[in-house]
Formats: sequence, structure tokens, C-alpha cells
Amino acid sequence: MLTQAITTGAFTDFAADVRSGLSLPDQKELPSKYLYDAIGSSLFETISLLPEYGVTRADERLLRRHAHEIVRRLSLPVNVAELGSGSGKKTRWILEALGRRQATSYYPIEISSAALAMCERELGDIDSISIVGFEREYLDGLLEVAARREPGESILVLFLGSTIGNFDRPSDTHFLAKVRRILDEGDALLLGTDLLKPLPQLIAAYDDPLGVTAAFNLNLLARINREVGADFDLRRFEHQARFNSETGSIEMHLRARATHDVNIPGADFVASFTEGETIWTESSHKYLVEEVALLANHAGFKCEAQWIDSEWPFAESLLIAN
Ligand SMILES: C[S@@+](CC[C@H](N)C(=O)[O-])C[C@H]1O[C@@H](n2cnc3c(N)ncnc32)[C@H](O)[C@@H]1O
Repeated sequence: MLTQAITTGAFTDFAADVRSGLSLPDQKELPSKYLYDAIGSSLFETISLLPEYGVTRADERLLRRHAHEIVRRLSLPVNVAELGSGSGKKTRWILEALGRRQATSYYPIEISSAALAMCERELGDIDSISIVGFEREYLDGLLEVAARREPGESILVLFLGSTIGNFDRPSDTHFLAKVRRILDEGDALLLGTDLLKPLPQLIAAYDDPLGVTAAFNLNLLARINREVGADFDLRRFEHQARFNSETGSIEMHLRARATHDVNIPGADFVASFTEGETIWTESSHKYLVEEVALLANHAGFKCEAQWIDSEWPFAESLLIAN
């Protein structure tokens, strides 16, 4: 009996988060980190190729053009930790520039085992780079990297793309302050931030006509079906991208097309939806360029250098822990 009682109550973290997020009385929510299972990570890679989604190409252009300057500004020898590396494709520019100057340990930190495997395959051929991946949450992984630091070595943390924008304000500052506390003075953080741009461009980036971003969003419900045994009918939901002008963020939602219930036995729960109600699945804040240095200062960094892409407003900022 005791074993049975413990088993019944022992939800996975995912099931527990699904239950609490879908029980919220006003706006239902699911944490965006659950978008990235094997299918989600693969769909994100496809999103990064879409003509409407300029973030990855802007980030890549800046890293390609400025990798040598970025590396020249670091205190060597340096170890590299990347928070949420994804496939790591763009990181090649930094690692190749570093590999010419020193043997480098590179630590991608990923919640998605599929993304981590892609990253290890993608970057495994670079001379003088050894890769040790951590399938962990950001800060847990970074603590492990810091514990491996030898005397005299510094750390470069990469937080690329627009992932910092997934935090709301002021959680972005609190998160970077936690990163800072794991680091030592003089360590570096290379931070990507997507900048505010005209609304039609922003909406198209998160609601492409091919429907890849819609599939990425809906896959979260399919994942709950696969992993928590739910019976979501995906055709009863539609993807929505909206701009929240109060927060300056794009929000992704899943809107119920009809009033209905969904059984989620793995979370011992039935979720009720009314027609038109939404599940909020992701935010992506669009920064003003002057916000980035302020964010850095509040979190315990100084902005050492910044590069802005002219084709797709996007900033790459080199922050130094002070
Ligand atoms: C928006 S994608 C960006 C990927 C890559 N950095 C880029 O710029 O293309 C965010 C990545 O962070 C990972 N991720 C999300 N939440 C995470 C968490 N809490 N801890 C570790 N990785 C996380 C996801 O699996 C995903 O690969």
C-alpha cells in the first residue's frame, strides 16, 4: 500500500509543472523550457533557417565578423561555457578563433539531450577544442564548469541568440546576477539580445506562413500526450503570436478553438478549457539597445564592447564581471 501511495503521488517535474501551469485560474501557462524535446529542438533548428526569423542569422553575422576581436579582449587561458547551446553552429566562430591561441575546454549546457548531441556532433571537429557537455539546467551546469576551473583560468559564458529574452523583467537581471555570483571578477559573458523592430516583422518572425513556429508551439501539447499520457487533440488548439506593448515582448500562446476537457492521467488531473482561452508558452523580450548596458550593470557586469547588426537589429554585448 505504501509503495502504491508513493508511486501515485510521484509525478515527474514535467507532470507537476503541467498540472500547476494548467490549474492557474486566470492565464494558463507552461514553462518555455519544455518546448525543447527532440522534436522541439529539431523544429527550432528549422525556425533558425526561416527567412522571417532573422535572429540566428544576425547573431551568426556578428560572431563571424567579430570573433577575433572578442577573443582578443578575453583574459587567457579561458574555458568556455555555453548556456542553452542548441546545435552550437554559431559558436564555431568563437571556438575557431580561440583554438588558434590556446587549447580550449568547451562546456555546452543544455536541458535538451537532443540539442546537446547535435552540438557535440557539430563542433567535434574543431582543432584544439575539447567538448564536455552537461545535460543540466543553466545554473547547475555553470556551477559544474566553475568547479573545474584551474588556478589562473578565466571563464567565458556564452548566452547567444535571444534566449535571455525568454525571462520576464526583472527576472532577466536576477538570472544574470546569479550567473555573476558563480563567476570571478574579470570573467566574461557574451550576451545576445534581440532588439525592438517594427511590429509586422516581429509577428512574422514568430508566426511564419509555413507554420514551423506553430508546429514548434503545438509540439508542447504533443509532448504532454507522449510523456504525461494526456489526450490533447492538437486540432482543437491554434498557435498565436502577439506583441505585448506593456512588456515589450512577443508572446506565444496556444488558443483553444472550443470549450472542452483534457485528461492528463500522468499528472492526475483534468484540464478544462473554454473557447478562446489560451495557454501562454513563451515570451521573447525585445530590448532597446540602451537597456542592455543597464541590465548588465544591475547584474554586476560592465559592458566592455557591443556590436549591432545593421540588417536585423540585434546586439552582441561583451560583459565583464566586476
Ligand atoms: C532559443 S534556443 C537557443 C539555442 C541557441 N543558443 C541559439 O542561439 O540558436 C534555447 C536553448 O536553450 C535550451 N534551454 C532552455 N531552457 C533551458 C534551461 N533552463 N537550462 C538549460 N538549457 C535550456 C533549449 O533546449 C534550447 O536549445
